[in-house]
Amino acid sequence: MNTIIIQADNGTLKEDDIKTAVSILKNGGLVAFPTETVYGLGADALNPKASEKIYKAKGRPSDNPLIVHISDIKNIEQIARDVSMKAYELAKVFWPGPLTMILNKKDIVPYSTTGGLDTVAIRLPANKIAKDIISRFGGYVAAPSANVSGKPSPTKAEHVIEDLMGKVDMIIDGGKSTLGLESTIIDLTSTIPMILRPGCITKTMLENVIGDVRYDKAILENHDDKDVIPKAPGMKYRHYAPEGCLTIYEGDMLPVAEAINKKAMEYTLEGRSVGIIATEETKNLYKHGDIKSIGSRKDEDSIAAGLYSVLRYFDNVHTEYIFSESFVNGDLGQAIMNRLLKAAGYRVVKVDKDMQGG
Ligand code: TXA
Ligand code: MG
Repeated sequence: MNTIIIQADNGTLKEDDIKTAVSILKNGGLVAFPTETVYGLGADALNPKASEKIYKAKGRPSDNPLIVHISDIKNIEQIARDVSMKAYELAKVFWPGPLTMILNKKDIVPYSTTGGLDTVAIRLPANKIAKDIISRFGGYVAAPSANVSGKPSPTKAEHVIEDLMGKVDMIIDGGKSTLGLESTIIDLTSTIPMILRPGCITKTMLENVIGDVRYDKAILENHDDKDVIPKAPGMKYRHYAPEGCLTIYEGDMLPVAEAINKKAMEYTLEGRSVGIIATEETKNLYKHGDIKSIGSRKDEDSIAAGLYSVLRYFDNVHTEYIFSESFVNGDLGQAIMNRLLKAAGYRVVKVDKDMQGG
């Protein structure tokens, strides 16, 4: 398949390019476009054949439902029923933005879009290009992250090109995703709303608007080892997995750096390639391997925004062993660690203060 690549100008698409994107969607084709969280792979959400193409292009299991992207709050009612007051309150505060709500679906939404579920995931993104395409298309664009299943979500067009060139009709380059982590998913069909995937809209932020919210237990622990099945089907797959062996080191900054240095030296001497995920504050503490800073500890947002790029980088250079610091501070830390722990297959080394080099 021939893939058209389009460059947006300063976050805006030319009129002709919007038209092309819309006409591809209308014909049941696939358009990858930027959003503020990660790039999405868009198709007509109400056309079963179109959403089936998404699964094929991504190599995604067909029981893993897609998020329907809308461009106007009013459109909720066309695709969801029993929409609660809480849903409207959240939409008013957090849309457009990185929040996805799970609601009961209306018949118009095909089961191929919802992975056979009677609920539908809905999000109204903030990115201008995304909004323009969705509204001009007519409202309902199914879009999972625009990566091949099992790879980190794309936060730049070049990531999408890496994964989907030749498999989709169009890729729109709108620059770097500002947030870099997928949207928070909240299920509003349960009595107490439940967070199915942590993201930039944190539990506290949600509770400030609608009161009690809980986490799906499965996202807080390594459910591979237990009988806890996550409610968001996608969370059960081993996502975000780099090629190399990733281990997270937890503990105070200096002992962690010391422990990582020791391992990095050991592996380097054995002729292995080593990568280190560090921060602006710590990068100078490391002496061996390929040291990458993902952002500043003073600015958690920068760490969220940098994570997937660094994971992809280590894949591209085929790093065999990757050591990462951990990022547990603050509310956003939950979302970052959720992704990082999955990428590491929950391989964590806890570094004790007194441990000499781990
Ligand atoms: O930020 C985002 O949400 C990005 C951008 C493109 O909007 N999209 C995204 O989509 O991350 P995807 O498909 O990679 O992740 C969607 C997640 C999956 O884990 C899926 O299982 C879950 O949402 N999901 C979708 N519909 C659901 C439903 N009806 N019930 C429970 N979970 C659902
Ligand atoms: Mg995804």
